[in-house]
Amino acid sequence: MVSEPVRIDVHAGSGASTIWIGDGVGDRAGTLLDAHHISSRRLVISSPLIWRLHGERLARALGGADPILVPDGERFKNLQSVSKIYDALVRAGADRGSAIVAVGGGVIGDTVGFAAATFLRGVTLVHVPTTLLAQVDSSIGGKVGVNLPLGKNLVGAFHQPAVVLIDPLLLSTLPRREFRSGLYEVVKYGMIASRDLFDRVSSNTKAIFARDPRVLAPAIVESCRIKADVVSKDEREGGLRRILNYGHTVGHALESVTKYRRFRHGEAIAYGMLAAADLAVSRGALAERERQALARLIAQLGPLPPVVDLPIADVLEAMTRDKKVVDGTLHFVIAIQIGATMTIDDVTEEEMREVLARLGLTR
Ligand SMILES: NC(=O)c1ccc[n+]([C@@H]2O[C@H](COP(=O)([O-])OP(=O)(O)OC[C@H]3O[C@@H](n4cnc5c(N)ncnc54)[C@H](O)[C@@H]3O)[C@@H](O)[C@H]2O)c1
Ligand SMILES: [Zn+2]
Repeated sequence: MVSEPVRIDVHAGSGASTIWIGDGVGDRAGTLLDAHHISSRRLVISSPLIWRLHGERLARALGGADPILVPDGERFKNLQSVSKIYDALVRAGADRGSAIVAVGGGVIGDTVGFAAATFLRGVTLVHVPTTLLAQVDSSIGGKVGVNLPLGKNLVGAFHQPAVVLIDPLLLSTLPRREFRSGLYEVVKYGMIASRDLFDRVSSNTKAIFARDPRVLAPAIVESCRIKADVVSKDEREGGLRRILNYGHTVGHALESVTKYRRFRHGEAIAYGMLAAADLAVSRGALAERERQALARLIAQLGPLPPVVDLPIADVLEAMTRDKKVVDGTLHFVIAIQIGATMTIDDVTEEEMREVLARLGLTR
């Protein structure tokens, strides 16, 4: 079944993006970029693994020279990789009129995106996301950046991609665990903005895992619509964009105390969503049956790495170090029903301690 790709536009302060989503969009990359008047001097940057899997098809679609390949994986999301990219761009004769096409998951997207934001003070960027997480989240919204030895995402910029080409067929090679990691972000969009999306993931889990285009593509489209809508209204996280952090307060802390080794990002967010739902129920803001629906769905998507050995004190400490602390206040997003949220900023340490204990962490 070949259906027409779906177009979504993002209008943010730092620039506009057009997102195209559909099976086979990757094969039409050249034509689509031409239609958006993207410079024909295109430099593709990807990772050796991704290019081995999908390079032949994408090279045919994009034409032109050999890609610049940089290793991916979180430990390569750093300034050394950015520096290597700058060198390769200079050697390839890139100039202000060139366009950089980032083909990969969130690590490639963030790293290459940061290089594009800063090389010659900024050149045109195109994202071709190849993980589910990148397709529904990291390729949209213009946040780019890398890690420092002392912390994650500490260096970055806002640089909207001119075009994002999302081809769900590229996910056919994605390992199941990586796929699930992205799926938890889809569940997040359901929790913050769309009961319909939540229900569709709940009742079509098998088809989604089978990457059935009839279910998967619409779920990606709906997720992208939600993110694009939020980013268009609040690119710089003045308020509304915070809802995208649902589940991320506890999630980021879990990732940090386990040094980014135990959890895939989405897995940590799954715990974070459970914690937020528990907190909301304990405050009488969310019905218990809604929390149970979330817990059921998360259980249905597969096992999560354990948290029982993690000391609550460490997680609390990591939470207070988080960027989401503004002027000393922790802004915590909770769902008040599936599909709607509110922000609270009076969460006490004691309350958090109880929530984390109920999640199974060590007192
Ligand atoms: N910029 C943002 O707004 C934003 C939002 C969320 C997450 N992020 C960032 O995204 C990163 C995580 O991204 P990720 O989960 O995509 O991880 P990733 O980029 O590390 O990719 C995960 C793994 O999948 C492999 N892979 C990628 N595409 C594949 C494919 N089609 N088939 C087979 N294997 C494939 C990669 O080689 C890698 O080993 C984190 O660094 C996070 O900070 C950024
Ligand atoms: Zn996330």
